[in-house]
Amino acid sequence: MLNEEINVDQPTVEHPTEGLRGFEPEIQERPEGNCCCDSPKEQDPLYRKLDEFIESVSDEDGVLIRVLHYAQNVFGYLPREVQIHIGKRLGKSLAEVYGVVSFYHYFTTEQKADYTIEACMGTACYVKGASAIISELEKELGIKAGQMTKDHHFGLKVSRCIGACGLAPVMVIGKDIHGRLTPEMIPEILKRYEKPKES
Ligand code: FES
Repeated sequence: MLNEEINVDQPTVEHPTEGLRGFEPEIQERPEGNCCCDSPKEQDPLYRKLDEFIESVSDEDGVLIRVLHYAQNVFGYLPREVQIHIGKRLGKSLAEVYGVVSFYHYFTTEQKADYTIEACMGTACYVKGASAIISELEKELGIKAGQMTKDHHFGLKVSRCIGACGLAPVMVIGKDIHGRLTPEMIPEILKRYEKPKES
């Protein structure tokens, strides 16, 4: 009995997908340009501009610095995706690109507003009503201190004494100091810095 050959019928599997015969996976052509993982960069006019510039300088010495300067002028800053794009185009690693970006203070990886408003909250300004000025700015801009408007035109920061206590309460917009502020003055002042309307 022990030597008896035990014959067990094993089902023969010819192919791992045998049981799937007759099943054809549905493969559809991907519509062009509709996929978010397709490089939208080729369609982005800013990336197109950057690529044209890279083409024009790609054989020159110090090309990475020149391209980074150009990219920062075009984009306003150098986010990670722009650095990756530049690295790919120039055959450099992200580490190499980031090494240069982080070495020079001129380069920034954070987007900046066209105008950053610094509202002073130092003692003199605080005593003269800086809180009401900041509340009015937040109301007019539709953002909180520390934020930027959606169009990146205005940023709002609360700062310490800026050395113009005699004019308290004070705020700085770009290079201009505005002093002896009242909340009523804020809408009129902001109008002077509005983006020109596109015609
Ligand atoms: S406390 Fe505001 S300018 Fe000095």
